Amino acid sequence: MKKVIAIDGPAGAGKSTLAKRAAEKLGYVYIDTGAMYRSVAWKVLQEYRDSKFTDADIAAIADNLTVTLSYENGSQRIAVDGTDVSEVIRTPEVTAIVSQVAAISSVRRKMVVLQQKMASNGGVIMDGRDIASKVLPNADVKIFLTASIEERANRRYKEMKEKGFEVDLAKLRDEIAARDKADSEREESPLVRVPEAILLDTTNMNLDEAEAAIIRLAE
Ligand code: CDP
Repeated sequence: MKKVIAIDGPAGAGKSTLAKRAAEKLGYVYIDTGAMYRSVAWKVLQEYRDSKFTDADIAAIADNLTVTLSYENGSQRIAVDGTDVSEVIRTPEVTAIVSQVAAISSVRRKMVVLQQKMASNGGVIMDGRDIASKVLPNADVKIFLTASIEERANRRYKEMKEKGFEVDLAKLRDEIAARDKADSEREESPLVRVPEAILLDTTNMNLDEAEAAIIRLAE
């Protein structure tokens, strides 16, 4: 039977890399919900490049845009009003405002409807912050994926360097810690580990080990 697998956890825990690899192995679809909030944040920056914006401005933008997910050789692509934004949503500028965007309830409501629709036929691995608690409370497997803040900062540092971004490790660590705090303390669907979620701490695991652990749990 094709299952529904929910993976939650803090920034840089390796959720997307691992969920993607596990989905390939299992023949499931991987749904990256963070990309949806990032795409709204990207659109906000397009419209308010050098000017200030409020939560109401963000809500209005989210209300009027269409986010579409599609799959190319098993990889998720994401588009905003028909423009592919799969790469541009990963810049530090987008990352800097995404938690503000994701804390707005109307933005979340819109994205959650899409996420639930995509999972309705099973055979999916979805990752995010509120998947087990809010989006898919009946998921067959719930995993809370984490790693120490130092390890998560190191991994993100390597990833950003490889993509050609100039990054500072200490700054990155502070940014991740601030985002974790904002995501965990917000009123609307905060990042939580539901009691039934299995804790997977990957601080001392390599990718193969962590992937094998997820596959075991899925099976
Ligand atoms: O890749 P990384 O772990 O840095 O973040 P992401 O999964 O792309 O998510 C970016 C941001 O979107 C998070 O910091 C949250 O603020 C928000 N998010 C959320 O609120 N709910 C989700 N289900 C997924 C992401």
